[in-house]
Amino acid sequence: MVTGASGGIGGAVVTALASAGHDVIAVGRDPGRLPLVPGVHAMVADLAQPQRLAAVIEEPGQLDALVHCAGVSVAAIAPVAATAAAVWQETMAVNVIAAAELTRIMLAALRRSRGHVVFVNSARGVRAAPNWSAFAASKAALQELADSLRAEEAKNGVRVTSLYPGATATEHLREVRAAFGSDYDPQRCISPQTLAAMVAWVLAAPADGYVAEMSVVPASRRG
Ligand SMILES: NC(=O)c1ccc[n+]([C@@H]2O[C@H](COP(=O)([O-])OP(=O)(O)OC[C@H]3O[C@@H](n4cnc5c(N)ncnc54)[C@H](OP(=O)(O)O)[C@@H]3O)[C@@H](O)[C@H]2O)c1
Repeated sequence: MVTGASGGIGGAVVTALASAGHDVIAVGRDPGRLPLVPGVHAMVADLAQPQRLAAVIEEPGQLDALVHCAGVSVAAIAPVAATAAAVWQETMAVNVIAAAELTRIMLAALRRSRGHVVFVNSARGVRAAPNWSAFAASKAALQELADSLRAEEAKNGVRVTSLYPGATATEHLREVRAAFGSDYDPQRCISPQTLAAMVAWVLAAPADGYVAEMSVVPASRRG
């Protein structure tokens, strides 16, 4: 199951896993924008309303992996002084609360498979981010959620990975860079396909060890 499946990173993860022969449930709010390649089933859900997820999400009997790729950030680009409560609420709802709630709903199925939960965090989520406080706060909370879940679920064989990508060439990043007034050169970013291949690799770990945390930086990064 992959959230944010209509997005740059989520779409690439869905495609990579489906191409490797997995059955994939692609979660998104607009079914027309999901990558419906063979092996992919759509599940429509609005992650800004996490309290409604239990009513709309169907729990499969078994689930090998849940990859949380959905996220919002552009509306949160503002100083604390100008960040309204509604922006805080949507950012926390999509980036953290929905991830926690969807994981909770899927946990029995994940335990049956001794499955794997991957949280796509952000290299920017683990340090102070002036003019992006709600986003940074949501990603810091996502890290805590992942760490708590890992400690709780080890006894049930459920694996938990936090992935910290740097700049990845998606429409989202183009919008972020435009809002910050900084340059965007997709050639100097990680491609979503590269990141997706790394997610597939993380999920394919053998029985005796796995990646708990992984930072990915663009190879062209300066300094
Ligand atoms: N791109 C980067 O440089 C970068 C770097 C580090 C971390 N990340 C993280 O990676 C994740 C994906 O980023 P991306 O660049 O692939 O962004 P993206 O292309 O904008 O994808 C974001 C996804 O989240 C979904 N989403 C947003 N609000 C939703 C809602 N209310 N209900 C359901 N789905 C919702 C979007 O759905 P819609 O299509 O319906 O809007 C979209 O599929 C995010 O968590 C981001 O913080 C990205």
